[in-house]
Amino acid sequence: MSTQGLQLAERKLHHSPGQENKHADRRQQHLDRQEEGGELLFKLIRNDGREDHMQWLIDLKNLYSKQLPNMPKDYIVRLVFDRQHYSLVALKGGLNGRLIAGITYRPFYTQSLGEIAFCAVSAHEQVKGYGTRIMNKLKEHVMNDTEGGERLDHLITFADNNAVGYFSKQGFQKEIVLDKEKWSGYIKEYDGGTLMECVLGESGRPALPSNSEMKEQKSEVEQIVQSLSKDKQLFNGLEVFRSLPEGEYARVDPKDIPGVKELGFIPNDPPFKILHSSAGDGTPTTENMHGFMREMVRIVSQHQDAWPFREPVDSNEVPDYYDVIKDPVDLSLISRRIESQRYYANLHMFAADFARMFNNARVYNGPDTIYYKAANR
Ligand code: ACO
Repeated sequence: MSTQGLQLAERKLHHSPGQENKHADRRQQHLDRQEEGGELLFKLIRNDGREDHMQWLIDLKNLYSKQLPNMPKDYIVRLVFDRQHYSLVALKGGLNGRLIAGITYRPFYTQSLGEIAFCAVSAHEQVKGYGTRIMNKLKEHVMNDTEGGERLDHLITFADNNAVGYFSKQGFQKEIVLDKEKWSGYIKEYDGGTLMECVLGESGRPALPSNSEMKEQKSEVEQIVQSLSKDKQLFNGLEVFRSLPEGEYARVDPKDIPGVKELGFIPNDPPFKILHSSAGDGTPTTENMHGFMREMVRIVSQHQDAWPFREPVDSNEVPDYYDVIKDPVDLSLISRRIESQRYYANLHMFAADFARMFNNARVYNGPDTIYYKAANR
């Protein structure tokens, strides 16, 4: 893909949420107008004795009781009026209008955690975007609200099983990133609910994309790749990594990647040639380089001063050797590294092992010793 193509892809990823979310966009624009006209208001309140706040908390308690029929009513009352819980409420029709939505949460600043206890929208206002709007308002609020320098950048909730879809659309995930010791024992756990977390980034938007955002992004990228692709033929991906144990790597020649040759890829001329009969045609392929390395080890091993370097230093004979030399190298180790086929990615690494082997001898032994002199010869 060209740079221009990538920029286009990037722009589209950030600005075009895809067909599926056109409705959601329109809903949110409608709510923007309601907010601008003062018809829709959001208030953050708690049980602080103010008359208007108490009235809204009573309305909120009634809303939760209706919308969350499985929650015991006295439990709802206890949390809504608990002074450690805050509630964000949405009012339609101005300050004297109806309470149509609310979220009740408890901040734990030292844990960077906000626990959402309840969230509901009144029945006749559901699926009109108010649930999304109030959650966005809550995220905005918590990102700007600090106590003792701490901010709540993790929102956690036990989502009612039939509200999991709504929470995922708000950027909540079932995989919990926050350390368990930071939330376990702090938040209330419910049977029949699903623990979900939203990690907030700097801007108050979820730091991790939601599953639906990931799907949208994937399909955007696929469409852009398709539109820029000259060749519509699909190739199988690389299989080589599947069979490797974790942490193991394998080199892949670009020309062996399915489809690359078909696109007209012409490998560059090799940067150098190995001028030795042990290196095949001299091209620095893995096979030729290893042939050359094997031959070098064979020649060096036959040198009359090679004997101290053929095997590792015996720690029974030289007890403090491995206290002084932290990166020991000997010819048998170099041979094993060649035979593993994976260690020496280039000739520099091979030469570096020889340099270290001789240098170790000079570091451990004094200049008058046979070992020091052998290393120099
Ligand atoms: N399941 C799956 N998806 C849902 C649900 C749901 N229950 N509710 C809404 N959605 C989807 C909408 O279809 C919409 O999708 P789209 O953007 O792709 O079109 C998206 O979520 C956002 O919808 P909104 O209109 O913003 O959400 P709404 O205003 O309906 O509020 C809420 C959602 C709060 C779940 C509301 O439906 C409700 O009050 N339900 C009953 C009470 C409830 O279940 N509350 C949550 C309990 S868990 C807890 O409180 C911790």
